Amino acid sequence: MAGADARRSGEVVQIIAGDGAVLGAGLWGDAGKIAVRIWRRDGGPVDETLVVSLLTAARERRLGGALPPETSAWRWVHGENDDMPGLRVDVWGEHLTVSLADPSLDALLPSVLSALQALARPQAIWRAQRPPADGAVDELEGARDACGLLAGDAGGEPGQLQGEFEVEVRERGLRFGVRPGLGHDVGLFCDMRDVRAWLQPQLAGRRVLNLFAHTGAFSVLAAASGAARVVTVDLSQRALDRAQANMARNQLDSAPHAWLAEDSLVVLDRLRRQGQRFDLVIADPPSFSHGPRGDWSVERDLHRLVAACCRVLSPAGWLLVASNHGGLSPKDFAGLVLKGSLKAGVPLRLLHEGSTPVDFPAALSFPESRYLKCWVLGR
Ligand SMILES: C[S@@+](CC[C@H](N)C(=O)[O-])C[C@H]1O[C@@H](n2cnc3c(N)ncnc32)[C@H](O)[C@@H]1O
Repeated sequence: MAGADARRSGEVVQIIAGDGAVLGAGLWGDAGKIAVRIWRRDGGPVDETLVVSLLTAARERRLGGALPPETSAWRWVHGENDDMPGLRVDVWGEHLTVSLADPSLDALLPSVLSALQALARPQAIWRAQRPPADGAVDELEGARDACGLLAGDAGGEPGQLQGEFEVEVRERGLRFGVRPGLGHDVGLFCDMRDVRAWLQPQLAGRRVLNLFAHTGAFSVLAAASGAARVVTVDLSQRALDRAQANMARNQLDSAPHAWLAEDSLVVLDRLRRQGQRFDLVIADPPSFSHGPRGDWSVERDLHRLVAACCRVLSPAGWLLVASNHGGLSPKDFAGLVLKGSLKAGVPLRLLHEGSTPVDFPAALSFPESRYLKCWVLGR
């Protein structure tokens, strides 16, 4: 590529081999480690026509019967796994969120918005900024400043647009409130949809402890599936308020469930001392967080969490432990889980390995995109 110094961020460039063959075309970026995000494997234009065809193909991969029924929250574009490097698009009913990994992608944003409007006719399109790697504990605050309405009409009060504005989506018939104006984390993690689907028939009559519960997707699932008791824990009262609102949306708020706005490790220690035991403990912690009792890091602390969870399991109890931290390899995840089980003196065996659903595909050429580690373990 000649004359790289003169390039502008977002400029379309061709990749040309030494023998003159055109290898592809993409957007030049000067902000990060990636010089060119390649959007096509020939020398053709990177324009709205290309975006329309890529979006159409991505939507067909999902809507050709692959998504479960009664589900209105799903990922339409999963970056380079859908041949659209740097772009993510999520669907929340009539609303879409668009996330760009790099400022160079801004050059393509008008084409993306125009193509999305033509293909989906959404009520509104929101910008979702990815959070910094060391996100604060109240993740619901997200990277709010960088978010906002890009197109369409949200229909809410002007003051609501950035934060509180909520729309209802469904996952296999269950109802959840999501806030597209919050950006990266609107309040439902669709990449765990298949894990929830696998758990659903296992939950009747179980005592469930849902740690790091966020807006309570697993708690709602457990209550709706006939769990005997659901204890929901999150450091953020704001997250718990939303979890309780999600219970109410599904007419599940009359059951005797418990809500604890506390540190998960503190709660686990108290429950152990009280002799409380659970048939299913769900531990899906963030990669990092800052809390009043210090920082949490999944790489440093996961084994302590696993050990503490083991100590409140009933004799036939199960532990679901998950991490979406891309920096934690499957091998290191396995090592930390084993270390925790040894520390607690509770031998565990792997019963099920959860994976991301069909709308989070992983290109074989991009193994780093297989970020989810999710194990269901039993004694
Ligand atoms: C990535 S979300 C977890 C996703 C969740 N399991 C779900 O199903 O949606 C992380 C959540 O952990 C909470 N959190 C972070 N540190 C915590 C801690 N030490 N104890 C309890 N909750 C914590 C955050 O407030 C946030 O709601």
